Amino acid sequence: MKYTALLALPLLAAAAPASERSTNPNFSVMSVRSASPIHYLQMNAAGQKFYLGGETASYCPTQVTHCPPGNETVFTPGGGSLDVNVPGGQQVYIDPHGALSFTQAHSANIPAGSAVGPFKYSPDEPWAHYSFNGWGASGFMACPTDDQRWQVFAAINNATVPKGDVDECLGFSALAIDYDGDVPAWQYI
Ligand SMILES: *[C@@H]1O[C@H](CO)[C@@H](O)[C@H](O)[C@H]1NC(C)=O
Ligand SMILES: *[C@@H]1O[C@H](CO)[C@@H](O)[C@H](O)[C@H]1NC(C)=O
Ligand SMILES: *[C@@H]1O[C@H](CO)[C@@H](O)[C@H](O)[C@H]1NC(C)=O
Repeated sequence: MKYTALLALPLLAAAAPASERSTNPNFSVMSVRSASPIHYLQMNAAGQKFYLGGETASYCPTQVTHCPPGNETVFTPGGGSLDVNVPGGQQVYIDPHGALSFTQAHSANIPAGSAVGPFKYSPDEPWAHYSFNGWGASGFMACPTDDQRWQVFAAINNATVPKGDVDECLGFSALAIDYDGDVPAWQYI
């Protein structure tokens, strides 16, 4: 796949060239699918699922003195969990419908029939990528929802998608952008 067109994009100024990147960083994700409504959208955690565009949904208890901003969705190295403060962390998995999901804070509960991986961070040139390779999937796709959002699923034909028709989903490249700031959220919700 070619990403030449990306190089001119100011939006991606934060993505350092491969030579300056950590080999296994914390990272945020941006979708790439040219000439589509999901080109260059941030991947956001919300409602224990993930969406392209919109906003990150997070929470920080009032007794915490310095709450992180909680407005950015960041994965831990390898992409198997989220970068949070909450004790126990928050694990990432594919639910039995095929939806990219994360565990609730203070709970390790993952529904039976889910896949906890393999998730993969590939430090490709010039941009790193995030993918899910379980169930014969080739990464991720985004599916339209009834409330005009794009929900993230494993790219599998047998996913159960919000509007019922997998043909409406768009496969995309999940660009992984290094994140080296402070922990971005107490917990995602
Ligand atoms: C990822 O973020 C955590 C904080 O959540 C930090 O402790 C860790 O050093 C970071 N890892 C890398 C590779 O930067
Ligand atoms: C998140 O909030 C911080 C602090 O309010 C702000 O500086 C930052 O630009 C915001 N980031 C995003 C991705 O909106
Ligand atoms: C979809 O098919 C794969 C491969 O045959 C299978 O492993 C997986 O359990 C199925 N997933 C769903 C969501 O039906």
